[in-house]
Amino acid sequence: MTLIAVASGKGGVGKTWLAVTLSHTLARAGRRVLLFDADLGLANVDIQLGLTPHADLGGVLAGQVTLAEAVLAHEGGFDILPGRSGSGTLAALPPATLEAVLHGLSDLARRYHTVVLDLGAGLEPTVQRLAAFADLLLVVATEEPTSLTDAYAVLKLHEAAGRGASARIVVNQAPTRAAGTRTYLRLARACTAFLGRTPPCVGVIRRDARVGEAIRRQTLLLARHPNSDAAEDVEALAAALG
Ligand SMILES: Nc1ncnc2c1ncn2[C@@H]1O[C@H](COP(=O)(O)OP(=O)(O)O)[C@@H](O)[C@H]1O
Ligand SMILES: [Mg+2]
Repeated sequence: MTLIAVASGKGGVGKTWLAVTLSHTLARAGRRVLLFDADLGLANVDIQLGLTPHADLGGVLAGQVTLAEAVLAHEGGFDILPGRSGSGTLAALPPATLEAVLHGLSDLARRYHTVVLDLGAGLEPTVQRLAAFADLLLVVATEEPTSLTDAYAVLKLHEAAGRGASARIVVNQAPTRAAGTRTYLRLARACTAFLGRTPPCVGVIRRDARVGEAIRRQTLLLARHPNSDAAEDVEALAAALG
């Protein structure tokens, strides 16, 4: 089992969309995948997919259901553990509660090849703990300077937590592949200089109008536009993860 967390620092860079699309890609390749909506402040995997979950992480924390009972099967071939949309109240979980959730997740994860954690924006201790818990941390950045500085902050905290070796960089919304590579190099150079480590790039995903269109229609990009640039790029990313 591999646990992959998706982080960025900054919101709106495409973490949730990437977590959903990567889960779908891996499921299509025959893996058993669980997508865990771990954006504890503004969970929205269910919104992007137009789902109305019967249970969610909020219910798990309230002791109403177990983690396993909250899992729902998506027609895309992967399972989802929904977060709690828009509550905003779970972002600062007491550490002991968070550890209990992680313990439950470790048990549940045994049923899967891959667990994808969609993390929230920001650098709160909860986000950091979830990032440190993962086998691989995908740090998503765009070419915007604020995204780059926030992605660097995530990488710096991850390094300080002793988990730097698990970090990978993904550039999203790149105007072209070449521009995306330049964005990666800008971030990688800062890491080399100040952290003494150069996280590898596992993917450049191009900006693609069909991403927004698929989200507006609450459908999966790979179902609707399997040959789009962004779909192709996420498939390449999934292959690069091995
Ligand atoms: N590769 C892309 N091309 C075009 N638009 C994108 C791409 N990735 C993400 N987006 C846009 O970014 C918006 C924010 O995505 P989302 O997954 O909610 O970000 P986050 O989870 O980081 O806050 C989406 O509504 C989508 O329209
Ligand atoms: Mg999100």
